Amino acid sequence: MDETVLWKLSYGMYALCADDNGRPVGCIVNTASQITSVNPIIAVSVNKNNYTYGVIGKTKKFALSILSEETPAAAIGVLGYQSGKNTNKFEKVAYRLEQGLPILEEAICGWLICDVLSIVDCETHGIVLARVSAAENGTAGQPMTYKYFHEVIKGKAPKNAPTYREEKPAAEAPKYVCSVCGYIYEGDIAREPDTYVCPICNAPKSAFARK
Ligand SMILES: Cc1cc2nc3c(=O)[nH]c(=O)nc-3n(C[C@H](O)[C@H](O)[C@H](O)COP(=O)(O)O)c2cc1C
Repeated sequence: MDETVLWKLSYGMYALCADDNGRPVGCIVNTASQITSVNPIIAVSVNKNNYTYGVIGKTKKFALSILSEETPAAAIGVLGYQSGKNTNKFEKVAYRLEQGLPILEEAICGWLICDVLSIVDCETHGIVLARVSAAENGTAGQPMTYKYFHEVIKGKAPKNAPTYREEKPAAEAPKYVCSVCGYIYEGDIAREPDTYVCPICNAPKSAFARK
């Protein structure tokens, strides 16, 4: 079987957010899709190790912000590469509450509020099936696709993402890889100031290793 065929599946980019007893939590997902049209049901694949997964399992409610091409990469960095287990992500990401659930404040195409109907066990992940109870358009233009995230922002999916790809070492150099998010810096990173941080996840220059 040639699993690289799976790389040709298309996705969007979303912030899946929930309320953890008054504390906003959330993570990035690319695996949201609409399942039915009347009283719409959507599905999201969430890794069981994600803190957000446990909160949604308990509260049975979540908000989904639809990211746009203008959504700051730093917000994706915080939500997609750190865990709410040990960080208050929303100290670094602008948000507002809608029905008590966090919606990203900056540059989103819209949002949905959803009530969980059931969670289908899929080994490492759970497929969260949920009914959309409220929805509104945002002001930002183009929805961000997963392809755009990879090719324009040059981000990588972390291990918890269902679409994670194991990288083979590149033959040519010099490239430096961020040990936190996998962002590739091309060129001589030594020339960057010591204050340089990863444009995706804000990790310090010391987190980069020669690929
Ligand atoms: C581009 C991208 C796509 C991702 N897609 C998913 C996904 O579809 N499902 C998932 O469970 N995690 C996905 N992740 C990983 C989670 O966002 C990440 O593990 C996050 O740190 C979990 O945070 P939490 O522990 O606070 O919930 C994705 C991350 C990125 C950057």
